[in-house]
Amino acid sequence: MRTYLVTGGAGFIGSNYIQYMFQKYHNDIHIINIDALTYAGNLENLKDVANRENYTFIKADICDREAISAIFAKYDIDRVVHFAAESHVDRSIKNPEVFVQTNVLGTLVMLNCAKAAWETEDGFQAGKKFLHVSTDEVYGSLEKEDEYFYETTPYDPHSPYSASKASSDMIVKSYIDTFKFPANITNCSNNYGPYQFPEKLIPLIINNTLQGKKLPVYGDGKNVRDWLYVEDHAKAIDMVQELGTIGQTYNIGGHNEKQNIEIIHIIIDTIHDMLSDSDPRKAHVNTDLITYVADRKGHDRRYAIAPDKIKAEIGWQPETMFAEGIRKTIKWYFEHEDWMKNVTSGDYQKYYEEMYR
Ligand code: NAD
Ligand code: TYD
Repeated sequence: MRTYLVTGGAGFIGSNYIQYMFQKYHNDIHIINIDALTYAGNLENLKDVANRENYTFIKADICDREAISAIFAKYDIDRVVHFAAESHVDRSIKNPEVFVQTNVLGTLVMLNCAKAAWETEDGFQAGKKFLHVSTDEVYGSLEKEDEYFYETTPYDPHSPYSASKASSDMIVKSYIDTFKFPANITNCSNNYGPYQFPEKLIPLIINNTLQGKKLPVYGDGKNVRDWLYVEDHAKAIDMVQELGTIGQTYNIGGHNEKQNIEIIHIIIDTIHDMLSDSDPRKAHVNTDLITYVADRKGHDRRYAIAPDKIKAEIGWQPETMFAEGIRKTIKWYFEHEDWMKNVTSGDYQKYYEEMYR
């Protein structure tokens, strides 16, 4: 049985990935999920898999070298899938240090522990693989409509978040080049779907619309992101690890560029359509909620991925059309009101006040 070490599996993409992997491989894999359970980590996301015999959760910080090397000593890890990170641009503007700590130093700890466990006299044990999950934000911002990010696009990060992810990518690249360390890097565009924490645009807008709260639009609302349904990302990660060429970087994207203001209109229209006429919330679901607020500092204008390489070499392409993915996502939030209540109680209120006052 192949053993996976997933970091940050209690977060948004990690928990979707773990569920995808169990749906695909059933009892043929063992997944060990290590997560420090920061504000973004939530074990409720994994309650459907928590009792499986082939699933193990360990609360650990990826910066804790002793804890991580003890896990490599105890288990014969075949695959590392490294999601754990601080992931929100706005938080990185307010408090960059933890981004460097977790994203850069934490990645270095993961690399060193995997390297030590897998090293042989003349290289690495056969079949071992490390996948570093990264973002398209490392490439910076596109200004023209016909420009796209390719794997060859020079890195040009602007926010402390994207700079920390770019640094972590460079460290992984250096291990590939220096030690022939068996790793891949994936750079993916913005994800959306179930279990996303409502500090990010799409779940924040869904939650506020349902509650009749204002919908904060940064700047002119015309910044563009390339949205990918999270399950498509999970599938791409698995395909890269199984079919990709070791040492290569693969861009993953949705072919789905939209301005933020378009996204907000789609969410309002879709929620309006999905709520029954007798639902009291329906009365306030309209565009009057839209509120333009001060722009994010250093706000990147446009991201757009050309996922040509992953399609040509691996055969992956996005499957979920945005109209379908956003309905599935909104339906999930309708059906998980308690999840939203739990994650928005306590610290979230304080964060929201400070960020949007
Ligand atoms: P998230 O913030 O939802 O989850 C991050 C997880 O990492 C949480 O469970 C958190 O508890 C854990 N974590 C944080 N610090 C840790 C530490 N020191 N030790 C152990 N665990 C720690 O993030 P996400 O949106 O699921 O993103 C996952 C990865 O994918 C990140 O590396 C991110 O950069 C990348 N990514 C995200 C997107 C996106 O749209 N969300 C797009 C491309 C790439
Ligand atoms: P976000 O979900 O934070 O992802 P990222 O910054 O990593 O791309 O933001 C997506 C876009 O939405 C980005 O252009 C900023 C914008 N935005 C708002 O206009 N209002 C908000 O309240 C948030 C959270 C984001």
